[in-house]
Amino acid sequence: MRALVVYETIWGNTGELARAIADGLRSSEGVDTVDVVEAASAPGAIDPEVDLVVVGGPTHAFSMTTAKTRESARQQGATVIPARGIREWLDALAAPSSPVAVATFDTRTVKPRLPGSAAKKALKVLVSKGFRPVDHAVTFGVHGYSGPVADGELTRAHEWGATLIDA
Ligand SMILES: Cc1cc2nc3c(=O)[nH]c(=O)nc-3n(C[C@H](O)[C@H](O)[C@H](O)COP(=O)(O)O)c2cc1C
Repeated sequence: MRALVVYETIWGNTGELARAIADGLRSSEGVDTVDVVEAASAPGAIDPEVDLVVVGGPTHAFSMTTAKTRESARQQGATVIPARGIREWLDALAAPSSPVAVATFDTRTVKPRLPGSAAKKALKVLVSKGFRPVDHAVTFGVHGYSGPVADGELTRAHEWGATLIDA
């Protein structure tokens, strides 16, 4: 079994969670390889040997980031802005030749609790391309805009990763 985790991060929180999810996947029996890659350098088509794709990114303005919201993050002090987010990667992603399993996650600020989810939007795009969802979109909390990840969320991410193979 082979899995690919594709993530986007501005302040590093979603990246930290992506690695926790990947570690959870690696702890599952029957998982041989888990690759973790940023959306900016992720492949344009999923390797046919990949059985599960996990996609995650920060929620910006109730959805996936855009060039405009990433620029807004830069104006708010972020120093590392990815050239491409999951939205642009998904737009360009080739439809899989068979329905590859997929799961999505996002990060959101814990206070105030706002509606909208990057993971829900990403899942919609993936399903429309022919991927097969194995779970509903999952959200992890971060403090403020820059983090850190909220208490207990890295453990929850690890646990979620470990359940995905059975799903
Ligand atoms: C321009 C902008 C818009 C945002 N919009 C939302 C939002 O609609 N809902 C929310 O919960 N958090 C929002 N946030 C907070 C981000 O979700 C938070 O910065 C992100 O989860 C941190 O993840 P990262 O460290 O991986 O970048 C926004 C942040 C920025 C910079």
